[in-house]
Amino acid sequence: MLQGGNGERDSFSSKFGVIAAAAGSAIGLGNIWRFPYVLGQNGGGAFLLIYLIFIAAIGIPVMMSEFVIGRSAQLNPVGAFKKLAPGKKWHLIGLLGVVSAFIILAFYTVVAGWTLEYLVQSVKWMIMSNKIGFSQMDNHAVRSFFSNHYESFISGIWRPIIWFLLMMFFTGYIVVSGVKNGIEKYAKVLMPVLLVLLLVLVVRSLSLEGSREGLRFLFKPNFSTIREAPVKIIIEALGQAFFSLSIGMGTLITYGSYIRKKENLATTAVNVAVADTLIAVIAGMAIFPAVFAFGIDPGEGPDLVYITLPVIFQSMSGGLIWAFMFFLLLCFAALTSTISVLEVIVAYFSEQLDMSRKKATVLATVSVGFLGIICTVSPKFFGVFNASPDLLLPLGGFFIVLFIGWFLAGNKSRDELSSGGIYKARYYRLFIFLVKFVAPLAIAFLFALGVYSRVITLFPKIGG
Ligand code: PHE
Repeated sequence: MLQGGNGERDSFSSKFGVIAAAAGSAIGLGNIWRFPYVLGQNGGGAFLLIYLIFIAAIGIPVMMSEFVIGRSAQLNPVGAFKKLAPGKKWHLIGLLGVVSAFIILAFYTVVAGWTLEYLVQSVKWMIMSNKIGFSQMDNHAVRSFFSNHYESFISGIWRPIIWFLLMMFFTGYIVVSGVKNGIEKYAKVLMPVLLVLLLVLVVRSLSLEGSREGLRFLFKPNFSTIREAPVKIIIEALGQAFFSLSIGMGTLITYGSYIRKKENLATTAVNVAVADTLIAVIAGMAIFPAVFAFGIDPGEGPDLVYITLPVIFQSMSGGLIWAFMFFLLLCFAALTSTISVLEVIVAYFSEQLDMSRKKATVLATVSVGFLGIICTVSPKFFGVFNASPDLLLPLGGFFIVLFIGWFLAGNKSRDELSSGGIYKARYYRLFIFLVKFVAPLAIAFLFALGVYSRVITLFPKIGG
């Protein structure tokens, strides 16, 4: 991968390396923590359906567009737009991406830190399980035990800060030491193991009494829930689709710039999107049956998964081993995402502002460190940061597809998608139709709707 701002540009060494790195970025807390709780808050099955449509019709075209921009320019998001559209304002999209990267990295790494807390706690819980008396507790008591723990952990100051700083340090260390290639190697093995563990959880979760209701909640679209808050649900589905695929802020422009010329961008995008979506749905299948079996509120919020998972683990034989492995893998999955976000900032600092890679990484890590500390001590701040991708990423994605659809000369993107004629790119007309019309119109419409509904809630008189 990339070494330094000036030297020879590194690239992913194999086709699988590309997919592993991009999937590593996409798969993370967005799938296992954010997806279930956002779906839970938005009524379940209907949200899932809308989410899937957005992934296919908007997400994949945006992802391909980012790859096209990154690989043809061979630069960070700001530099890429400057190179492809000299003297124009398009590079501001890249800048928006860098700003989004700061915000996302700050709250995301805080949640990544929680995995470390749960890693330690799961050992403690399991060793002391007789003393705590899980086996004598009813479902209600088990649920209260873990939600009390979450509350006391999150309202403390030092533990969340220390775990966050540790994750931030790991992220910076990996980015600066250039061991990302090593990370790809681990990702290839560990992501499939995470999948297997999730499947084990699904089996356990489904065997709990009263769990069927959870599957129904996840898969059966109940459109009356949409009627209650259509704008909120649709916008959060779009935001979650962008967030989960790591699109709309230049992460995949940056990674695209490291993809070799002969790689097929379209199949890479489809593979990554399918893997990402599969993991999210399977995480839902692990979480919701247990949520219903234990009487947890599916609309619980950001704590949903951090209460439900320990609940499942304590009910499993050999729970300790499972919990330990799971949180370790989740921590790793989070790390492959945090490094991809930090990479956006570091590539920008080092290539555009002419810093050494080391200086760029230290500067970025320390400044995100401050933002993240604010997120750990202020739930309000955390909430605003955590909600911001729903608007920031579709906004970035809007301009990215506009750029590909209307600005970049036709041949350039076709050339890039066919890798200079190696591949046929038969889907090309469909792709252009999606990036020219469907994606920008859909995003603009939803955006306007979102802004309108905010205004209406702030000034009810306008709505009559
Ligand atoms: N897609 C990552 C996840 O689901 C989060 C992420 C968002 C990473 C945006 C990069 C850019 O966990």
